[in-house]
Amino acid sequence: MTDATPVTPEPTSETPDQAPENAGAGQDLASRGSNRSQRPDSDAFKAFITSGWAPRAELDVEPLPAAPYTVARRAALSARFPGARLVVPAGPLKTRSNDTDYRFRPHSAFAHLTGYGTDQVPDAVLVLHPVEPGTGDGGCDHHAVLYVRPLAARDTEEFYADSRYGEFWVGARPSLDDVTTATGVEARHVDELRDALAKDVGPGGVTLLVVAGADEAVEALVEAIRAEAGVDETEAAGSAQDQELTDAEWLARAEAAYRRTDAALVEAVSELRLVKDAHEVEQMREAVAATIAGFEEVVRNLGRAVEHRRGERVIETTFDAHARLEGNTVGYETIAAAGEHATTLHWIRNDGVVRTGELVLLDAGVEVDSLYTADVTRTLPVDGEFTEVQRRVYQAVLDAADAAFAVAVPGARFRDVHAAAMEVIAARLEEWGLLPVSAAESLSAEGQQHRRWMVHGTSHHLGLDVHDCAQARRELYLDGVLEPGMVFTIEPGLYFKADDLAVPEEYRGIGVRIEDDVLVTADGNENLSAALPRRPEDVEAWMARLRG
Ligand code: GLY
Ligand code: MN
Ligand code: MN
Repeated sequence: MTDATPVTPEPTSETPDQAPENAGAGQDLASRGSNRSQRPDSDAFKAFITSGWAPRAELDVEPLPAAPYTVARRAALSARFPGARLVVPAGPLKTRSNDTDYRFRPHSAFAHLTGYGTDQVPDAVLVLHPVEPGTGDGGCDHHAVLYVRPLAARDTEEFYADSRYGEFWVGARPSLDDVTTATGVEARHVDELRDALAKDVGPGGVTLLVVAGADEAVEALVEAIRAEAGVDETEAAGSAQDQELTDAEWLARAEAAYRRTDAALVEAVSELRLVKDAHEVEQMREAVAATIAGFEEVVRNLGRAVEHRRGERVIETTFDAHARLEGNTVGYETIAAAGEHATTLHWIRNDGVVRTGELVLLDAGVEVDSLYTADVTRTLPVDGEFTEVQRRVYQAVLDAADAAFAVAVPGARFRDVHAAAMEVIAARLEEWGLLPVSAAESLSAEGQQHRRWMVHGTSHHLGLDVHDCAQARRELYLDGVLEPGMVFTIEPGLYFKADDLAVPEEYRGIGVRIEDDVLVTADGNENLSAALPRRPEDVEAWMARLRG
């Protein structure tokens, strides 16, 4: 990697071109990154590097494919927060180590509400400003503005000297016009953010709410503005409690007060994604298709995995290379777990050997450029054929998944999907003589012994985050009713650890998970990942075909 010490036009006595020996005591630590390279700072250099450039070619900016859909998404958020100013940060660049950053990925709420995916808009902030009811964007009660750090001109130091943001270092960022062309949202310089957020904030005035967890600096700015205006988010939430009210009045006031908290905004941007729109479903289809192709690549490469001392890494890197080539990256760290490692649910160290005769569990998903991710698991026999006991365990998990699919229809509750899978798992464990109680007792709330071998849930919502909608209320998630447009996983498993003395030896060291991505439709559901074989005989035939 190129030394990220930027040319620093105006070094001070604390930042010499080359630190003299024993200069430690006189040089502040922050400037020591500059000790490792020569930094031109002559006027001649500055004049030369900032001149002589052809006019900047117009960046070929097109409207983002998601842009037409984001208007309705923002309107839905607007309707939940009349009169409040809503702040949705993209988030900053995040340090990986010392002065190197991770690749930028915007916060999922920002991506959802702007349509931005992998594009370079770190530090951008979407603000929904309250306006006269009905006079906002698309007739809603808010007007959206994107505050961004636009592309710097070539006569600026940033152009050539800023290793985090400068065009010489990380490429050209969009201009304000580019942002508006891409998103359809008014764009303004981020330097205007503070005044824009503070306008009319105060007791009886505009309420300022921020999506917490995306950008600490923006949260601190919001806190400072509230403090200056004499408002306190937590006071607003508690004010309803001080009054003498009937229960119903108290609840209504408490609800209204809660709508004035950052927590309510975080909850809302999460719940907004419970039902996917047509564009999101299309993106999920693309993510799943790319993921299936990645699984095929892995099967083609299994021979190499068996030969390598860290065969799990062969599997991981085969899938991850595919994800980088065909999408943005992986939606979460790939789990490539051979043999007993499959009994560790999130095995991501992936440094083990891959042995013939064993199973290998691959849990992986491609995140496409729009940032939607698949989340798929297959458990494969390394040499292409299941043994009898592997097949027995595999079939039990598959039957549990099929039972879950059968109930994952509109009108059912999310929790019913898990319950259906657990009935099958408990019944099989009873049949095999592994449960210390009957399946019925185990399925009761006081029992649950079967969960020893499947401690995770059967399903989670899926979308921009692999565990999407995670801040939704329980009544809309676990206790929620399934609706067309919801996308979630069905992923039962059975995991018998190598040292599990509660099971006969033949089961020990076997871990199986089968995970598919399901779309609830008007009259049932669609298995989005159905093109990846699930039945043991289909898995064997598919592997044989791919391995020639
Ligand atoms: N890969 C994480 C999960 O399946 O939830
Ligand atoms: Mn999952
Ligand atoms: Mn998974």
